[in-house]
Parts: sequence; C-alpha cells; structure tokens
Amino acid sequence: MRRAVLTTAALTGALALAGCSGSGSGSGKADLSVSSPYMPQPVSADMAAGFLTITNKGGAKDELTSITSDVAGQVTLHGTVGGAMTEKTSFAIPAHGRLVFESGGNHLMFEKLKHKPKQGQTVTVKLTFARSGPLTVEMPVKSATYNPTTGH
Ligand code: CU
Repeated sequence: MRRAVLTTAALTGALALAGCSGSGSGSGKADLSVSSPYMPQPVSADMAAGFLTITNKGGAKDELTSITSDVAGQVTLHGTVGGAMTEKTSFAIPAHGRLVFESGGNHLMFEKLKHKPKQGQTVTVKLTFARSGPLTVEMPVKSATYNPTTGH
C-alpha cells in the first residue's frame, strides 16, 4: 500500500514538470495528467494489458488517439461492452472529467512484445492526443494479480 502511494506521487511530480513545457493551461484548453499507471506482469509472451487514469482539469474536452511503447510493436485501445472487448480508435476525455482504464473495463493492449516485462521493471508509454501535446509515462510492472485498490 505504502509503496504504491509513493510511486504515484513521484510520477505525478514528473508529469507536472513535463506538462509545463507542453500545452498551456488556459481555461479553454484541456489540461491532462496521468495517474496510477500499471501493467500486470503478463502471462503471455507476446501480449500484455495496461491500465491508467487520465484526468482533464481543463475546460475543453480532448481525445486519446494513440499509444506507443518501447516494449511493444503495437498498443491498441480496448473498451469493454457487456463483457466483450472491442478495439477502439480513440477515447474521449471530457472537460473537467476523467478517462479510466481499469481491470474489467477499458484497457490498453500491448501486442507484439519485444520482451516479456517482469514485475519491478517499468515500461515507457507515450500517449498522443487530438489537441494536447503528447505525454510520456513510466508504467510500473506489478504482479500478475495486482489489485490497485488493495495495492498488492
Ligand atoms: Cu482487450
């Protein structure tokens, strides 16, 4: 639990700095930040899931349009509708709202893995948006059964 809180705080600090050089934070613009990123250690050798939350403190909506990672040949965006997963080309991020990727819901799918990420490592993920500048996130790899609510 304590370790998860520290990780999130460190990441938030790094992202806040990165955000300064990118998009502005006027009221008519999206103001995006990423929190709680993690990847459960994959069971498969060529596929992994990833989760994170994107918060928009700005007064305008934006859209997540693509994700890339150094460990994967391709990262796709998946939504879950009625228990079935569907690939989507973008996800809306409402003004003063959040876009949540979480276990059992929306998720990121890392495909064509160049190596199998292991617990304790981090994976670099770059998020691209329709309007805001890109954000780079260090996504920690957790245990295969990691639950962000309990922290283990
Ligand atoms: Cu999926």
